[in-house]
Amino acid sequence: MYHLECIECHKRYKATEIIYTCSCGGLLDVIYDYSSIHLTKNDLKGRLSVWKYRALIPVGREPITLNEGGTPLYRVDRIAKSVGLKDVYVKHEGMNPTGSFKDRGMTVGVTKALELGMKTVACASTGNTSASLAVYGAKAGVPAVVLLPAGKVALGKLAQALMHGGKVLCIRGNFDDALKLVRDLCDKEGFYLLNSVNPYRLEGQKTIAFEIADQLGWEAPDRVVLPVGNAGNITAIYKGFKEFKRLGIIDSVPKMTGIQAEGASPIVRAIKNDADAITVESKPETIATAIRIGNPVNAIKALIAIRESGGTAETVTDDEIIRAQHELASFEGIGVEPASASSIAGLRKLARMGLIDKDEKVVCVTTGHLLKDSEHVLSVCPKPIEIDATIEAVRKAVFAGS
Ligand code: F0G
Repeated sequence: MYHLECIECHKRYKATEIIYTCSCGGLLDVIYDYSSIHLTKNDLKGRLSVWKYRALIPVGREPITLNEGGTPLYRVDRIAKSVGLKDVYVKHEGMNPTGSFKDRGMTVGVTKALELGMKTVACASTGNTSASLAVYGAKAGVPAVVLLPAGKVALGKLAQALMHGGKVLCIRGNFDDALKLVRDLCDKEGFYLLNSVNPYRLEGQKTIAFEIADQLGWEAPDRVVLPVGNAGNITAIYKGFKEFKRLGIIDSVPKMTGIQAEGASPIVRAIKNDADAITVESKPETIATAIRIGNPVNAIKALIAIRESGGTAETVTDDEIIRAQHELASFEGIGVEPASASSIAGLRKLARMGLIDKDEKVVCVTTGHLLKDSEHVLSVCPKPIEIDATIEAVRKAVFAGS
């Protein structure tokens, strides 16, 4: 019913093969026999969840699941007004079980690991992937090895990876170094690699697109704006929309719009330079540690998704990210980590540049929860005020300056 196929040379591999990239070095996609899939809106009634889309999830066994997916799609009129647009939504992926969209990929990826008989799972991570892998590894009873860039992972994510029993290794290097290492480790030790280079992970993440279409009344938005790091999610969401269009469930595919932090923006530069490949950045840096990546493994897929869909890519500064994080929190009650806020920062910038039409229906994906990075929050918000436990002191503090 499905196989793996290289996006460059189109070589096919059996679904049972343990392989992450083609022998030519190209990235792999999961390709279904779409003519045998008959999925209608009627089949998709009921509560949203990743496993509701089983017809388009390449796994046969009982899933390892914690009820991922079904995240809210909020209409954000105050944000819309402030950026000068009319129809803006936020898909808050921070509401997944571990607080990030990675759970969609991990429920599928870890289930696939069991199906393939793998005994240990592993990943490199800027934090969220490691938290999610540790959690799903725990649920599956499979050891999880995670490699993190030392000193550059938000505490909430580290805490999750540790508490759920991951073997947490902090390397002296950045995420790109960690990914190179873990790929080598998986090849040598037979561990199952669950970074987004593994096409099965993206099959879980594409359900973000399915849910957006459902939540908008079986229609695609004009544009989806999201943060880009290793570039898996943008390609996964694009694939999801394309599949729904192919099956006749929606009529169009949104313009995929990727946002990167100024200090870690190889995809944006490739789009702006009209280049076929990225130039690796050896020293990526941004306050949004989740997307502090200089050599995104899915770059080629992301460039295709952005170009084919008529989308674009843009950078935002750390200050713009912090402003957007505050706006989401205080205008809309949506708490997100810095990387996620880059989608709103990017929306504002693109709207200001006149690159988003005022009437477009836009969905911004916020990928991770505020509590993931509370250290950052404390560093950018006013300090709490300590006072005596008296009503006078409380009143004085409440009305100070008013
Ligand atoms: N937003 C958040 C909160 C993330 O954690 C990530 C990636 C992204 C956006 C970018 O997604 O890589 O698919 O383009 N985090 C990875 C990790 C790299 O290890 O947790 P992408």
